Amino acid sequence: MNLSFKGKNTLITGASSGIGKHLAECFAKDGAKLFLSAHPSEEKALADWAKTLMDRHGGKIWTFTSDLAKPDGPQKLFDEATKAAKQIEVLVNNAGILTYGEFKDVPYENLERMIQVNYTAYVALMRLAIGPMVERRSGAILNVASASAFQPTPMHAVYGATKSAVLHTSLAVAQEVRPYGVAVCSLNPSYTNTPLLNKETSNFPGRLRWFAVSGFPEPQTIAQKGYRAFKKGKLAYVPGPLNAFIHKFLIGLTPKEWVARTGTVIIKPR
Ligand SMILES: NC(=O)c1ccc[n+]([C@@H]2O[C@H](COP(=O)([O-])OP(=O)(O)OC[C@H]3O[C@@H](n4cnc5c(N)ncnc54)[C@H](OP(=O)(O)O)[C@@H]3O)[C@@H](O)[C@H]2O)c1
Repeated sequence: MNLSFKGKNTLITGASSGIGKHLAECFAKDGAKLFLSAHPSEEKALADWAKTLMDRHGGKIWTFTSDLAKPDGPQKLFDEATKAAKQIEVLVNNAGILTYGEFKDVPYENLERMIQVNYTAYVALMRLAIGPMVERRSGAILNVASASAFQPTPMHAVYGATKSAVLHTSLAVAQEVRPYGVAVCSLNPSYTNTPLLNKETSNFPGRLRWFAVSGFPEPQTIAQKGYRAFKKGKLAYVPGPLNAFIHKFLIGLTPKEWVARTGTVIIKPR
């Protein structure tokens, strides 16, 4: 498969920072028509980034804000984006949040919010976009999940579970819509140096023992690799050969309870 995004109306969530910000640049370079969205608190950052991309790569970029933690956030965003674009031809579900810590200590509101932003909003936007894509016999969806999707993740149990849900939903739906010419792919990076891990609400401890194995790449590198994999229609891409081997093959062959037990040791601060 070789997907082309030139001239395609592309909606990206969480496009003001981290991986989403750099994915936006990959699409802009290739001449996609961009509809970028961010949390309302990021309105200025998103507008500034859109201007930078227009100066660098030309074309017009539309920006939107929507709080995807709110039940009506995805619908509101989709309505506004389709009003401007007429149709969404490529969807990139990327917005996400993480809270690190023992399950018993994480406030329930954080867990609920994480499920809403990391999974419910992905499903809602996918469901809104995919019908018209199937009708047109063309379209592509990239869901940014995580290497956490492949195994239980102590210290961020619900985060990993939301990512697992995204990965498995993507893989299943990809099979259903392939006959209609629609691609559904997921990008599954290991830990990446983005604001996600530095926010006060994430409670992330800085560096983990696991980084010695996984590395700690910059978001630009992950976005560029993920974008290339998306163009090739890779169904569940894990950047980096060692991370791909560990998460897609080694962990798949190991009983989940062993993986969870090992996880309690390696996902601790270094
Ligand atoms: N960094 C990693 O280690 C890592 C590894 C694997 C996968 N990922 C995944 O990669 C994706 C991008 O994350 P990132 O690492 O690039 O972090 P990031 O820079 O924090 O980007 C996440 C984006 O999601 C937005 N967002 C959060 N809550 C939102 C809400 N309620 N409504 C709308 N937008 C919201 C954030 O906006 P605000 O800045 O306003 O919160 C931000 O723009 C996420 O799905 C994440 O789970 C990250």
